[in-house]
Amino acid sequence: MSAPVLELRGLSKAFRVRHGFMGRETREIRAVNDVSLTIGRGEVYGLAGESGSGKSTIARMIMGLTEPTAGTILIDGAPVAHAGQRPVQMVFQNPGASLNPRRTVAQSITVPLAVQGVGAADSAARVAELLEMVELPRHFAGRYPHELSGGQKQRVAIARALATTPKLLILDEPTSALDVSVQAKVMDLLADLGRDLGLTYLFISHDLSLMRNFADRVGILYLGRIVETGTADQVFAAPSHAYSRLLIASVPVMSEDEARARPTIPLIDGEIPTAEALVAHEAKQLSQGSKA
Ligand SMILES: Nc1ncnc2c1ncn2[C@@H]1O[C@H](COP(=O)(O)OP(=O)(O)OP(=O)(O)O)[C@@H](O)[C@H]1O
Ligand SMILES: [Mg+2]
Repeated sequence: MSAPVLELRGLSKAFRVRHGFMGRETREIRAVNDVSLTIGRGEVYGLAGESGSGKSTIARMIMGLTEPTAGTILIDGAPVAHAGQRPVQMVFQNPGASLNPRRTVAQSITVPLAVQGVGAADSAARVAELLEMVELPRHFAGRYPHELSGGQKQRVAIARALATTPKLLILDEPTSALDVSVQAKVMDLLADLGRDLGLTYLFISHDLSLMRNFADRVGILYLGRIVETGTADQVFAAPSHAYSRLLIASVPVMSEDEARARPTIPLIDGEIPTAEALVAHEAKQLSQGSKA
């Protein structure tokens, strides 16, 4: 078997933040804790978890934008150096902010090509090819971001990410800033591209119904740790960790069978419990059950 495209071994990130009077004290935020995972070639790995669970921090470490506190990142089986170019590209949540407003579509797409030393004549042909891939008309090459809709901007961001044929494409909430109808079209495009080009994706989302349709394997992230992992079918059919059940219970129900299979998660004192509280709660229920 060939080496996985991406392997994370014990990846952790702690941020020091100032607080207290005049910021004189510092506190550590353990954003990512000992995360290990592998993504095989052509696979879609879904990373789910609520806001603040560490999803983007993991993405930024893989991209080389944030330095890990501990752990190793391997691409094609080889550890990556702390700095420098990586054969990984990312599509960000907000397509408006990720495109330079002063650059035309063609200029935005050719920035990563120029870094790779592709000449102007070749890159014009490549821009036309990439626009076709993301189903935008060729003449969009001369447009500026303000002349595009949100969905069109995200297609340009996808084209730019594909320009250098990355080994791994990280999609960090790629459609959450878009209208629902546009969302589905962009997800369809990503699925088609993935299949046609054999792309490897790390797909980050808090939208579990999207994840269920799109991902082959899933990791559920909670307070910076992966608490559950498996094929999307396994995790969604029979989540084993209390927190995954909680997340999955909040997915809109699709059929009567699913409604029956849907687990009910206890709110403790009217609130979504912490992992510790939930485990304690389940232990209490078990001990009460065994007495009865
Ligand atoms: N540069 C930073 N400095 C200090 N704390 C940070 C920094 N970046 C992230 N954090 C903290 O790390 C934790 C994880 O943040 P992260 O952005 O990775 O979460 P996320 O899962 O992507 O959330 P969301 O779904 O809202 O995008 C949060 O508590 C966040 O406040
Ligand atoms: Mg994020």
